[in-house]
Amino acid sequence: MGNNKKYTVEDVAREADVSTATVSRVFSGSAKVNKETTEKVLQAAKKLDYRPNRVASRLRGKGGHSKVLGLIVTDLQNPFFSDIARGVGDIAYENDHGVIVCNTDEDPEKERFYLETLLSEKVAGLIIAPTIGNKEYLRTVNQTLPLVSVDRHLSDFDVDTVTVNNKEGSYLAVKRLLELGHKRIGIVCGIEGILTTEERLNGYKKALKEENISINDELIFHGNSKEKGGVEGVRHLLNITEPPTAIYSTNNLMTLGIYEELYRQNVKVPNDVAIVGFDDMSWATALNPPLTAVRQPGYELGATAVELLLKRLSNPNRPISNTVLKAELIIRHSCGNPK
Ligand code: RIB
Repeated sequence: MGNNKKYTVEDVAREADVSTATVSRVFSGSAKVNKETTEKVLQAAKKLDYRPNRVASRLRGKGGHSKVLGLIVTDLQNPFFSDIARGVGDIAYENDHGVIVCNTDEDPEKERFYLETLLSEKVAGLIIAPTIGNKEYLRTVNQTLPLVSVDRHLSDFDVDTVTVNNKEGSYLAVKRLLELGHKRIGIVCGIEGILTTEERLNGYKKALKEENISINDELIFHGNSKEKGGVEGVRHLLNITEPPTAIYSTNNLMTLGIYEELYRQNVKVPNDVAIVGFDDMSWATALNPPLTAVRQPGYELGATAVELLLKRLSNPNRPISNTVLKAELIIRHSCGNPK
């Protein structure tokens, strides 16, 4: 129709020369409508560019409160965050809530844009894997918008959080390499300042210190938590004076990059360099050799986060909850066999 007028069910009924109840029945499928009438209604709706707002009305709770939640993650192309989004979506749907999913690429400016967008959409609550650039703004947002921090949280930021035991998971991964006799262990970890980076790095340092192995900054490489970070990590670690005999990668995509670059340089895993990763993924067993990895429950993280948020919405004064789920070490062949 060319104009921006929002046509209603009444307009469609008038156009199709039927009752509004018939129009609703055609779109809800709640009762049989004959083929000819259905066609008339659909033609009228198409002409008026009418879309039933059945979803919108269903997503308004009692008193018109939104039943839509926001989810902000840092890398939707990372299967770990897709698992989180799946967990959030499934439990939100079971509780008759919709979800708007946003991706920030760890960029605080993007994150701020999506926070403002979700506030203007008047979502009921927010689940966020926060970047490190908007803590004070998030504190302000949280005064009006209940939020749950997932995967990582921000220091001295008192909100419900759902994370995993990153430090312990990391410790177990590096301990495995030490038990196999490795003394020079490189680590390819994420962006400095992000909780998952810091906790996984601390687990690495704890395991080395227990074996009286000094921390060598040459063996620590900060990547971008994507494949490129893994590729660059290998190029750095294999070019230092005394390269490591094992590499610990603190994220799935960097692990992929590490495998890629080691293959490109014809470096054999585990005989030349042993590998352990954080994030077990469905493709871990398809790698050659299959990856030894710390498994973190992405789906469960998402499901737990939305359950916490719904509890917060129904009881704003409930005590703050810091849920830590268990990450476990899955041993395969990339770390080598006991000597
Ligand atoms: O692969 C996703 C994991 O790597 C998440 O824990 C995220 O924080 C990054 O560290």
